[in-house]
Amino acid sequence: MDKKNIDWSNLGFAYVQTDKRYVANYKDGNWDDGCLTEDATITITECAGVLQYAQTCFEGLKAYTTVDGKIVCFRPDMNAARMADSCRGLEMPVFPEDRFVEAVVEVVKANKDWVPPYGSGASLYLRPFMFGSNAVIGVKPATEYQFRIFATPVGPYFKGGVKPLTLRISDLDRAAPKGTGNIKAGLNYAMSLRNIVDAHNCGYDENVYVDSATRTFIEETGGANIIFVTKDGKLVTPKSDTILPSITRRSLMQVAEQYLGMEVEQREIKLSEIDQFAECGLCGTAAVISPVGKIVDHGKEITFAGMGPVIQKLYDTLRGIQMGEIEGPDGWIKVIE
Ligand code: PLP
Ligand code: COI
Repeated sequence: MDKKNIDWSNLGFAYVQTDKRYVANYKDGNWDDGCLTEDATITITECAGVLQYAQTCFEGLKAYTTVDGKIVCFRPDMNAARMADSCRGLEMPVFPEDRFVEAVVEVVKANKDWVPPYGSGASLYLRPFMFGSNAVIGVKPATEYQFRIFATPVGPYFKGGVKPLTLRISDLDRAAPKGTGNIKAGLNYAMSLRNIVDAHNCGYDENVYVDSATRTFIEETGGANIIFVTKDGKLVTPKSDTILPSITRRSLMQVAEQYLGMEVEQREIKLSEIDQFAECGLCGTAAVISPVGKIVDHGKEITFAGMGPVIQKLYDTLRGIQMGEIEGPDGWIKVIE
């Protein structure tokens, strides 16, 4: 087999059907052996738990081609662990974490011709997900589930590539205290759709959510965590129980400290103090590190350096680790082949 004939450098963030996906089914209290399939469609009852009560969660991670031609994944064990948390939060059975990682490896191997080449800027995005598949009409958890992983080649998440983003402070909330904001439940994204469509219509790239209890602290955006850099070069990122614990953000905090010798602070960040920061960025698997140029808070424009020197360094180091140019901490890079 040969690499697919794709204009890798011009890929956006859109679904492209690839050759094989992984599927496993849960019934009578057990997961079956799981297998790869070419069938990209799913047939379920009209009354499935996922369709009626949104019983579904998902993950996102990427496979890359490194500088020396290996195919690798970035910290898939972290996605396995977070998916287990999401499942527990939604009364779904956990797909064993070791099997999750094995399934990721199988899917990447089976679609290796879809892994973009080194230097193209693109990657193979993997989307593990699980849903309640049997009929439930009373509000209760399903008893049967399907776990799947598909792969799709992607480029930058935000249109315009590295152009600094313009965000707005959202009037709508994403997550309630003690709600589901810290897990990757499909419902968190369903309820953000109206707000993201409105943000785009108003000329913004994303919504910045504040804490819904007091509306005074910065949380995250609809699809990424947020990082700030102080004027004296410290990395500051929100501490909150209602944001998704981004694997990219946790990795960046470690990179900042251990590779760049930076001071790192995770703490509550007041909306009223963000005009004190020099740089701002969004981070996530899809977003990678996307520089922020401006946050608009109801007419007040707060500007940042865009791809400033610190965000650039963080980006270069994290990308360097993912691309095999810089040696990462133990266990960060899972070599597929
Ligand atoms: N926050 C939200 C709401 C997300 O959807 C994502 C994407 O996964 C992230 C943050 C970033 O998380 P990660 O870095 O693990 O991809
Ligand atoms: C990811 O970064 O993997 C996500 O799931 C974010 C989503 C908005 C695409």
